[in-house]
Amino acid sequence: MRSLWNHLKLGNPKLIGRYDVLARLRSKRVAAALIAAALTVPVLAACGGDDKDSVVVYNAQHEELIAAVAKKFTAETGIKVELRNGSDLELANQLVAEGKRSPADVFLTENSPAMAVVDAKGLFAPLPATTLDRIPAQYRPTNGHWTGFAGRSTVLVYNTAQVQEADLPASLMDLAKPEWKGKVSFSPTGADFQAIVAGVLALKGEPATKAWLAGLKANGTVYDGNNVVLKSVNNGDTATGIIYHYYWYRDQEEAGDNSKNTALHFFGKKDPGAFVSTSGAGVLANGKHNANAEKFVDYLTSKDGQQVIADSYALEYTLNPEVPLGREVKPLGELDPPAVGISDLDSARVVELMQDAGFLA
Ligand SMILES: [Fe+2]
Repeated sequence: MRSLWNHLKLGNPKLIGRYDVLARLRSKRVAAALIAAALTVPVLAACGGDDKDSVVVYNAQHEELIAAVAKKFTAETGIKVELRNGSDLELANQLVAEGKRSPADVFLTENSPAMAVVDAKGLFAPLPATTLDRIPAQYRPTNGHWTGFAGRSTVLVYNTAQVQEADLPASLMDLAKPEWKGKVSFSPTGADFQAIVAGVLALKGEPATKAWLAGLKANGTVYDGNNVVLKSVNNGDTATGIIYHYYWYRDQEEAGDNSKNTALHFFGKKDPGAFVSTSGAGVLANGKHNANAEKFVDYLTSKDGQQVIADSYALEYTLNPEVPLGREVKPLGELDPPAVGISDLDSARVVELMQDAGFLA
């Protein structure tokens, strides 16, 4: 407001140079009108034109997947989707900082811990039961403030020339033991690996998680990104890597250039290494397009939206049982994951523990 006032008073003499205009500008009534005008402009901009037919999505899921979903959603509803892409905790922290002033209508994450951060600040509107009921209870919080829409299984990718099947670890926790020194890799700066650590923390508690992280620090090779981990295992630079299933299956569906020397080990048996992470979707309570936001999240869990995910390049698990992923991927029903309360994943504590272990700055 101050800059608008200065602009009118000082910055544009041609416009307001005449004494009588200045005199009028000085009057309290005109000043009040200018203040009102300045406050009104953004509101008009937000409501004007065909803006009511849009929805603003803060997206931390893979850009290509959500762009495909958004394209179909727009074709079916006429509602334009504005995607603002970032990473899980980056966008969660941005939403918390913006609070009620955020332009976001919907928040989508790769992994659920970032959803819990936003929910803890009371920023989500509860979702309708019709949306929630499509997704099994273990993939959404009991308070109904958001829902899962895609799943990703933790796996160990291994170089088949370096590790025999019989020598594979029975548990993810074993990779911290001395016999795995120099034989394991992972990408600790990514939200994917941090969600896996959150699963370990929820299942094993803090002392065991600290000891496990210390063992991984001693044993492990750190890369930046799950695709880099996959490549390095394929090249034989490291014997094994902790990743999510879809990185390997996608490469297999292509030419297999980065996975042909490898195989996947599914831990199963409710081991922390069989943790299935959930991609979450929620409607921001203070968004400006609530009805559109509800429609978008509803679409994500619907048969049509889940089919877009199943048919895409992504190879992440669909969570609506009416639309199985299919393809050549080990079915979700065969993974035998551990029971982790989706609201019990504590990303703030995970970041602290990973900082203490020397994985994060
Ligand atoms: Fe990922």
